[in-house]
Amino acid sequence: MTPADRMREDRQRTNPLFNDRKLKLGTFCSNLDYGCAISTIPGTLRISWPNTLALAKLADEMSFEALVPVGRWRGFGGKTNFNGAGFESYTWAAGIGALTRNSAVFATSHVPTVHPIMAAKQGATIDHITGGRFVLNLVTGWNKPEIEMFGNDLAEHDTRYEMAEEWISIIRRLWTEQEEFDFDGRFYRIRRGYLQPKPIQLPNPVIMNAGGSPRGRRFAAQFADVAFTAVDSHDISQVRAQVDAYRKAAFEAHGGSIQVWTNAYIVQGETEREAQDFVRYYVDENGDWEAASNLVESMGLNAMTFPPGALQELKRHFVGGWAGFPLIGTREQIVDGLSMLANEAGFDGVLLSWARYEEHMREFQDTTLPLLVQAGLR
Ligand SMILES: Cc1cc2nc3c(=O)[nH]c(=O)nc-3n(C[C@H](O)[C@H](O)[C@H](O)COP(=O)(O)O)c2cc1C
Repeated sequence: MTPADRMREDRQRTNPLFNDRKLKLGTFCSNLDYGCAISTIPGTLRISWPNTLALAKLADEMSFEALVPVGRWRGFGGKTNFNGAGFESYTWAAGIGALTRNSAVFATSHVPTVHPIMAAKQGATIDHITGGRFVLNLVTGWNKPEIEMFGNDLAEHDTRYEMAEEWISIIRRLWTEQEEFDFDGRFYRIRRGYLQPKPIQLPNPVIMNAGGSPRGRRFAAQFADVAFTAVDSHDISQVRAQVDAYRKAAFEAHGGSIQVWTNAYIVQGETEREAQDFVRYYVDENGDWEAASNLVESMGLNAMTFPPGALQELKRHFVGGWAGFPLIGTREQIVDGLSMLANEAGFDGVLLSWARYEEHMREFQDTTLPLLVQAGLR
């Protein structure tokens, strides 16, 4: 046994995603310029290493379970070139992982831009840096200009998931199998696949996926330990059904369980009116609508798929916080909203973002987190 082998441990013990908190929390997109808010107001996240590290340390201090970066290679234009500047997510995770103690540190990896041997090796390295707190979030890529930047065509939708199946199967084998192996697939050919040291987490580091389509959801159920999904209905019983469907699909695919998470943005005020006024200020009056339009168009969402009013509402939502679930109001209302997501909708965790990321996150730490503890959610 090598010294690295002796460090291997059951991931239930090393990875905070498996703690028993009713509501797990994380931050989202703290590695990119403007974070989740497509707004020109002063005070939004402008990316630099000290700024992104400050957010990670704050989350770590609050024992948030997850630090989830976004995988992005170019921005969406407009005044802000939203999310254009930003840190590459594996190297970000390695640096953040070395400087935090509690949170799971994710790398969000596009399948077609990273070879699976490279992904497995980088993931194993980050797992050692963090003592078993690494999570691989795999995304298949939808933003054509960034995939084309690599000289590749964006593959047809379901083909992306076929490629992802080979990609993650190779990674898992590298992480778990002691013997060298060959792999002959449609997309990858591996000769004498070898990886040492193995990651810390046994049986392998946690895998997350955010597929939203039926094909994507099927992939998540089969291969992921954590599924991320956007809340796509105002009707809470429908959201509950959506969450339960993931759990059922995972059980049917491999007889095991899956965590289901979503993302939300918080706008907190002393009064509900104050929170709504702030939304008017940073979204309606100072949103970067050109960037928001480019973003939704790149996603294939346009006036053909939505009536104009609904499209505008969707863009507002992207400007507010990457189209997460809106939590807008007093601290008590924020706690009620989070409680509803955990208790009624049945989510295991929620990734959060704020417009003025650091300032608002400190406010959350001082005023909202104690109420979440009181409510038995943390
Ligand atoms: C919480 C969350 C995080 C995501 N992060 C990324 C990301 O970092 N990079 C990316 O290209 N896509 C990201 N996506 C997009 C998904 O990977 C996926 O492509 C999208 O949800 C559509 O699902 P589909 O691929 O099944 O059609 C994210 C989606 C969600 C809900």
